[in-house]
Amino acid sequence: MSVKVQGVVARSKGAPVTLETIVVPDPGPGEARVKVAACGVCHTDLHYREGAINDEFPFLLGHEAAGIVESVGPDVTEVAPGDYVILNWRAVCGECRACRRGRPWYCFKTHNATQKMTLEDGTELTPALGIGAFAQMTLVAAGQCTKVDDAAPPEVAGLLGCGVMAGIGAAINTGAVTRGDSVAVIGCGGVGDAAIAGARLAGARKIIAVDIDDRKLELAKGFGATDTVNSRQTDPVKAIQDLTEGNGADVVIEAIGRPETYEQAFYARDLAGTVVLVGVPSPDMRIDMPLLDFFGRGGALKSSWYGDCLPDRDFPMLVDLYLQGRLPLQDFVSEKIGIGDVEAAFEKMHKGDVLRSVVMVGS
Ligand SMILES: NC(=O)c1ccc[n+]([C@@H]2O[C@H](COP(=O)([O-])OP(=O)(O)OC[C@H]3O[C@@H](n4cnc5c(N)ncnc54)[C@H](O)[C@@H]3O)[C@@H](O)[C@H]2O)c1
Ligand SMILES: [Zn+2]
Ligand SMILES: [Zn+2]
Repeated sequence: MSVKVQGVVARSKGAPVTLETIVVPDPGPGEARVKVAACGVCHTDLHYREGAINDEFPFLLGHEAAGIVESVGPDVTEVAPGDYVILNWRAVCGECRACRRGRPWYCFKTHNATQKMTLEDGTELTPALGIGAFAQMTLVAAGQCTKVDDAAPPEVAGLLGCGVMAGIGAAINTGAVTRGDSVAVIGCGGVGDAAIAGARLAGARKIIAVDIDDRKLELAKGFGATDTVNSRQTDPVKAIQDLTEGNGADVVIEAIGRPETYEQAFYARDLAGTVVLVGVPSPDMRIDMPLLDFFGRGGALKSSWYGDCLPDRDFPMLVDLYLQGRLPLQDFVSEKIGIGDVEAAFEKMHKGDVLRSVVMVGS
């Protein structure tokens, strides 16, 4: 039987989100229905509601979640009702050319539930990143559920479902930060601070946090930043060079998604260094830089899809590090809010008042 629950919907470009009754079908083959416990508010949700991702309104927002599997489709074996899971938005297929070449974190055919969730009048919803977890129940592909230790509370575990995994993975997987590296992170929101935490885990010796908001820079120190730069007051390229014996950082991570900060990242790295773009630009953005500098400076310019993670490999490992006190996931949670408070949380995110607001859906 399909169930009706409350969900947070963006009906049209720029319009405030509304709480609507949504219909969640019974799981079919390959699908799982999950009772959401907690879901973080990520900047990507705001990008959706601003129409910056695509035009497939109405969107069911929320995609950074943990919960409990409620029921599964007939052929599903990887998870069972009662399992405590983090939802992921890149369920790998195992069959595409990336998977077959042994690089499943790039999977070109990630999948979601086949059936659609709808509004009560039958209007099909587009779930954000194929998840849609600002809702008491959601329908996903079974492969989007990763079982983890339930000793980690949902408001903490759920963060690994998007921003925190993207940031940690941008540093460790995409940027391949290693012992002794110098790292700069431009933009210290949830994603940037996670990149800082990842760089610390990997043994970076200098971690430079760059933001335009001093409150964010203060928080960044708690995740492992050894130096901070307010780029509203100081040229960040010069500052990063000054902090690295005039050379630039080995790895620079852009965690905003803007042309001007990408350019800063490009010039703030050492020769043959690596730039990682984990921030998501909008379709209108362009960049105009001398092609010769791309050649002359060498190195690697990479983009990080979901931190190039493998959920089944990385989520349980990061939950364990959290439980051992080696990864302060709890410090990302600025506030716990109700399902009706998402629009207010966007406002706070916009003003820079929070790192992560987490919707306690189940309470
Ligand atoms: N690649 C992925 O898989 C992935 C996953 C999740 C999120 N993202 C993207 O990562 C980005 C960051 O997400 P978030 O949730 O951390 O957002 P956020 O709004 O919490 O953080 C952005 C930070 O950037 C700072 N900032 C803004 N403009 C700046 C500038 N010009 N110079 C320096 N700092 C500036 C802000 O003060 C803020 O601290 C977004 O674009 C989001 O869509 C990407
Ligand atoms: Zn694949
Ligand atoms: Zn996200």
